[in-house]
Amino acid sequence: MAKAKSKPATPKAALVESSEANIGISESNKQAVAGELNKLLADEFLLYTKTRKFHWNVEGAQFHDLHLFFEKQYDQLALMMDEVAERIRKIGHYALGSMKHYLQEASLLENEDKETSAPTMLQELLDDHETIIRRLRSDVDKFQDKYKDAGSADFITGLIEQHETMAWMLRATAKR
Ligand SMILES: [Fe+2]
Repeated sequence: MAKAKSKPATPKAALVESSEANIGISESNKQAVAGELNKLLADEFLLYTKTRKFHWNVEGAQFHDLHLFFEKQYDQLALMMDEVAERIRKIGHYALGSMKHYLQEASLLENEDKETSAPTMLQELLDDHETIIRRLRSDVDKFQDKYKDAGSADFITGLIEQHETMAWMLRATAKR
């Protein structure tokens, strides 16, 4: 009697590496986009943490305003981070969620100082937002043209605008 054909078992590594989303984007392109989005998630998380740190530790005449301003900004970053992680899931991959992985993947630098002056806090956050904006701007074309992922290109175009708004507010607040 012929043995019933059965699907060969999928190796475990393949389960981790390949996504199940059949959305018309090649596996290697989905993987490349997910990799870029996970790096972005790491930077958003780092910037979120830094903004919270500044909310806690800001001092000086502007304390009250900056304390509230930073709170608004980290709340917004929390929402943006969530969208990035969920975008990764929509293209069938898994979002990073450990501090170890975030630090490995992030390109922004943490603020490890005990004390930071208010003007330095504003400038540092502004620099970080602008770094992300420049990175996203080159990713838009890459996602669209190289990886054929219009959805992710559109998604990060929206993110650019959100970071531009946050950067404008930081720039305007920092002006003397
Ligand atoms: Fe608070």
